[in-house]
Amino acid sequence: MSYRIRTIEEYHEAYAHSVKEPATFWTAVADAFTWQRRWDEVLQWDFTTPDVKWFVGGSLNITENCLDRHLATHGDKTAIIWEANDADHPSKYISYRELHAQVCRMANVLKKHGVKKGDRICLYMPMVPELAISVLACARIGAIHSVVFGGFSARSLVDRITDAICSVVITSDGIRRGGKNISAKTVVDEALKDCPSVRAVLVAKCTGEEVPMQAGRDHWIEEELKVVVADCPAEPMDSEDPLFILYTSGSTGKPKGVVHTCGGYMVYAGYSFANVFQCDEEDVFWCTADIGWITGHSYIIYGPLLNGATSLMFAGIPTYPDATRFWQVIEKHKVNQFYTAPTAIRSLMAAGHDLPDRFAMPSLKLLGTVGEPINEEAWHWYHEKIGKKRCAIVDTWWQTETGGILLSGLGDMTPMKPAHAGLPLPGVQPILVDQQGNEITGEAEGYLCIKFPWPSIIRTTYGDHERCRINYFAQYPGRYFTGDGARRDKDGFFRIIGRVDDVINVSGHRIGTAEVENAINEDAAVVESAVVGYPHDIKGQGIYAFVICDGEHADENAVRASVTATVERIIGKIARPDKIQIVSGLPKTRSGKIMRRILRKIAEGETGNLGDTSTLLDPGVVEEIKAGAQ
Ligand code: WT7
Repeated sequence: MSYRIRTIEEYHEAYAHSVKEPATFWTAVADAFTWQRRWDEVLQWDFTTPDVKWFVGGSLNITENCLDRHLATHGDKTAIIWEANDADHPSKYISYRELHAQVCRMANVLKKHGVKKGDRICLYMPMVPELAISVLACARIGAIHSVVFGGFSARSLVDRITDAICSVVITSDGIRRGGKNISAKTVVDEALKDCPSVRAVLVAKCTGEEVPMQAGRDHWIEEELKVVVADCPAEPMDSEDPLFILYTSGSTGKPKGVVHTCGGYMVYAGYSFANVFQCDEEDVFWCTADIGWITGHSYIIYGPLLNGATSLMFAGIPTYPDATRFWQVIEKHKVNQFYTAPTAIRSLMAAGHDLPDRFAMPSLKLLGTVGEPINEEAWHWYHEKIGKKRCAIVDTWWQTETGGILLSGLGDMTPMKPAHAGLPLPGVQPILVDQQGNEITGEAEGYLCIKFPWPSIIRTTYGDHERCRINYFAQYPGRYFTGDGARRDKDGFFRIIGRVDDVINVSGHRIGTAEVENAINEDAAVVESAVVGYPHDIKGQGIYAFVICDGEHADENAVRASVTATVERIIGKIARPDKIQIVSGLPKTRSGKIMRRILRKIAEGETGNLGDTSTLLDPGVVEEIKAGAQ
């Protein structure tokens, strides 16, 4: 790719160019893609409304760039290697030509069910090729995909389907992960009792289990594919037409639908993939995320395919059948770049420090991490035991809202500093601000903001633009606020400290404390609750819930079991509290505000100084909570 940077000098040049003349910089990058109509203006932006438009007036289809464009030169190259959950299950190798045909067929199935440009389609399925194919099929015809992670409950699915008013759901009979089966179709059936907008459900056969099919509404994808052709023209999309919605948790209320648009997202997903991971022509790239998260969107599907790379898609978990599965897969498919989360690294480290010694993994060239700060111990283990000290590590910092990686090393070009995400990618202008919003320069610690748009910045939160403004653009006017605290060292390297809002990062997944509290409060035994994060050896952060239960429920263990089940039912297993402490009161100010700062300290195990408690309505409650802390 013409936009690939190959030396650190080239990086510094590109960076300087991108800041001095963003329009000419991004023009050169965007010109490496296929457009149906070239743009009239590179960028229009205003961070107050906010209103950001990239490649204004341009027209394109991202699937032409992911698929059609590669057919003439490397149609037979493997686009997707699929590794099943069970190690003895055969892998699949899907060439660009086959993927193109399957995407066209699936797109025609959607059309047959009346799906049109702009319609929202919900995807709730396991990590099977049909998921990637369905995502691309939506994009082919301009339908907006909204992928919901398979670990979410029926209630969470209802919220997401309703918010986006989806007309079709694509799912599977079941989901096999590790040694367990989850009945995806049953969850969808349960959810659809409350989703009148959905007229059709398309079901992929994955586990082969019996599932009820509702006549007129539910259809087997296998059967549908037989009656359509393998040719489907790519819908012309305006640069600023939405490509997808992806829900993510914030500090308040229900998850919000982050909207990314076609042109800017394409350019940045392609550009960032090529430069961070530095894949060569024959390389195999493996990102272990689930496509239900942004990492899977940008670096399993779009980024690799835009660059004509080979992307490995894995349906299993790191510890099944045992804690060497990742290393087996790396050797089996000769993976060159491996991208995973610190939580996975820590859990595999805990499963046996020396287990990877049996695997030489000579194909590996580069390692990556994403999702949460990586502690130095895990960084060194990853570097020594997996990378055998040969491979550089890129610590990639970004967010659902940023669409692509913003801070990271580029391949092995940038000097590595353990636990530092490093330098901004070209086009990215991060700054640190103090509480008042004043920019602080040099070596400093502060709130991480970005002061200039990059092509894949969030455009809106679906159906509620004001929420987008308040969440990201209002705190520090004129800046995009990330919600993270960070430190910058003398070399300009960034180290992410963590969230500064009421969002917890559990195993690299974002969970809003308010969301968990609302779920807990639905439990019949609960009067009130407060949820905070605390340091957790494997997960990074764990969920600590302080719960006041009503007088009749004296059995604490029964309350805990009930609260856990309620959270699972309402949000899903991923939001299950790690610790539940029953308390008789919560530390509140005279105006009724819960002082989370105090609860956070107690959850962290701090027993001494809790700071100023003089504004509390009832300081006595703190002593009680401290005494009962887990
Ligand atoms: C939050 C975004 C897009 C990546 C997957 C998570 C944290 C992400 C890092 C990193 C330290 C990180 C931040 C960020 N985070 N990457 N390399 N080092 N923290 O996406 O669910 O939108 O969460 O994850 O706190 O704000 P997400």
